[in-house]
Amino acid sequence: MNIPEHIAVVMDGNGRWAKRWNLPRTLGHKKGINRIEELIDNAKGMGVKIVTLFAFSTENWSRPKKEIERLFFYLKTFILKKSKKLNKDGVRVNFIGRRDRLGKSLLNMMEELEDLTKNNRAFIINIALDYGGRWDILHGAKRLARDALDKKINLEDIEEKDFSRYLFLNGMPYPDLLIRTSGELRISNFLLWQLAYAEFYFPACFWPDFDREELKNAIKYYSQKERRFGKIDSRKPKTGDLEMKV
Ligand code: IPE
Ligand code: IPE
Ligand code: MG
Repeated sequence: MNIPEHIAVVMDGNGRWAKRWNLPRTLGHKKGINRIEELIDNAKGMGVKIVTLFAFSTENWSRPKKEIERLFFYLKTFILKKSKKLNKDGVRVNFIGRRDRLGKSLLNMMEELEDLTKNNRAFIINIALDYGGRWDILHGAKRLARDALDKKINLEDIEEKDFSRYLFLNGMPYPDLLIRTSGELRISNFLLWQLAYAEFYFPACFWPDFDREELKNAIKYYSQKERRFGKIDSRKPKTGDLEMKV
């Protein structure tokens, strides 16, 4: 079976999951964050190499302060509880997104976890936190402009692959498959540049219900796709096609 090397996930639907069970939205976030460990184990077991998770967008700051605080509290708890196991399992953890608006204690924990796992090779998980695709591109463009002004690069020589190194997923293969749970068919400012040729899969279930079976379905969907990258159909023409007159 054709397995995606890199899966990007918009973990959406925590609030609606909670509403369905008559619970506060924040419990949906707790349940959602608890799904992450299982996703890593399952994806790793199925042969995936990289997972990039959308945990908090640059736009999510416009939510109620209480909800944001709770969400970050659950994230910190995840880091505290799971760092050891992630490291033991050979998982490298990176955080992508802005760092200038996050609290000091969370930032310290993020940096420690990145440092602890930086030499791991079995699996990579990127957690997108205060991440926006537009900001990623703008931030990269500014850094590139700075390097050009400092004469470290020659603008005429910059190609797409060179520019992609200025983005957060610096040097990593682009996602092959994007999964967005809860039935919303939009990208919501996730990896705008990097998803240019990804396959898109939109399961109806809310993120807290995304289990092993759901992941298997997503990978099955991906494995049946023929990715053409702009080329024409690579299959051989069937007998008869050649004689067909237009
Ligand atoms: C996704 O779930 C988590 C974040 C955006 C932080 P939501 O909180 O967006 O849940 P819904 O979409 O309102 O159900
Ligand atoms: C996208 O979900 C961001 C995350 C899952 C972190 P949102 O719930 O914020 O997206 P919209 O507002 O429905 O587009
Ligand atoms: Mg949502």
